Amino acid sequence: MDAGAPLRLMSRRPAAPLAGRFAVPGDKSISHRALMFGALAVGETRITGLLEGEDVLRTAAAMRALGAVVARDADGIWRVAGRGIGGLVEPADVLDMGNSGTAARLLCGILASHNLFAVLTGDASLRQRPMRRVMDPLSACGARFSAREGGRLPLAVSGPKEALPLDYRVPVPSAQVKSAVLLCGLNAPGITRVEEPEATRDHSENMLRHFGAAVQVEVVGAGRVITLQGQPELQAADVVVPGDPSSAAFPMAAALLVPGSRLVLPGIGLNPLRCGLYATLAEMGAAVAVENRRVEGGEPVGDLVVSHSALRGVDVPAERAPSMIDEYPILAVLAACASGTTRMRGLKELRVKESDRLAATAALLAVNGVKVEIEGDDLIVFGTGRPPAGGGMVATHMDHRIAMPALVLGLVTDRPVMVDDGSFIDTSFPGFVELMNGAGGALAAA
Ligand code: S3P
Repeated sequence: MDAGAPLRLMSRRPAAPLAGRFAVPGDKSISHRALMFGALAVGETRITGLLEGEDVLRTAAAMRALGAVVARDADGIWRVAGRGIGGLVEPADVLDMGNSGTAARLLCGILASHNLFAVLTGDASLRQRPMRRVMDPLSACGARFSAREGGRLPLAVSGPKEALPLDYRVPVPSAQVKSAVLLCGLNAPGITRVEEPEATRDHSENMLRHFGAAVQVEVVGAGRVITLQGQPELQAADVVVPGDPSSAAFPMAAALLVPGSRLVLPGIGLNPLRCGLYATLAEMGAAVAVENRRVEGGEPVGDLVVSHSALRGVDVPAERAPSMIDEYPILAVLAACASGTTRMRGLKELRVKESDRLAATAALLAVNGVKVEIEGDDLIVFGTGRPPAGGGMVATHMDHRIAMPALVLGLVTDRPVMVDDGSFIDTSFPGFVELMNGAGGALAAA
């Protein structure tokens, strides 16, 4: 997406409250994994509700380049004919993962234990992101990596003839690193073991089981130890992708902020390791109800009913960060309109997202008249109980999760809010502008 012209967008106060029932696109984390596990399984995997965003389409293209047959039916169901563990073929060209850190890091895990040569690259944002966090642990299987200075893409990887299993303690809370190690372990004989001091999203573990792998998870304090028996015969399995809670957070926040609003968002993923935002919103006094709880494709889901609420500032503990890591920018927008101060603790990992998201979130608010501070790894937002002035041009730094919160903020500010480039919204939430406007929002090209 490097070459495209920037897409300036703006939002302003709508004439009426937001209302209606809207499906948000499929979960990004689960969509990447469904394509990858499908490509590693024997047989045909059918995926319903796949997120057709740029990031996931990059994964689909990469799995095709590695020899899997990946196709979309007219009814929107995706079919993946897998190659079986160890059966991937050497890609004939560079694999371009676009804006997607998840795609790049998980793919490193898959490639490391395959005896082939591959080169990965990405857009200007992804080429700045740290890859050493996966290169280092994966090298222990026998793979050889070389990358640019600082472990940045492009990188090249050559897998060994026979990979060794890994035993790794993940030093940062990262589901991507954990998943990369597990994916590598799939094509190594023996037991691969990963220890995470803080539990992170467990979609890989759930999906591995769903495809028939032997995975054990032991809860140890706040963390987990995951063991995987290597070289299983993964069997193709159908996957139903729930609505992405990280995407649902944007219309949800809009409904909380715009007076008189009520939105229903059906079929949203409720994996407990993704639910930190709901706990925080409850503490802030938000009216968010979950109806029709059910399990779909091995993941808990429910329908969210969200109504306008007067919010108060809260102290968000650092331990909660892994379960809501992608939700801090939109939480910061809510905090800006709440009464009282909100302190969000322990946000170090936000510095290495699609942008330095800690700095970008603070700047998003400041340019729209909000008092905000960064203290160490904490973000402090001084809410006044009413929306800020707005009128700012937000620098999005190729980061979808900076663009969307800015546009939500503009629905309640005195003056419209603009974003310098909304094109990256398509990485995770194609149809965002249309959904918001369908609900009564006022988003437009600027
Ligand atoms: C993801 C893990 C998180 C998250 C990202 C998706 C995943 O990243 O921010 O959007 O699908 O595993 P980290 O593992 O870097 O925390």
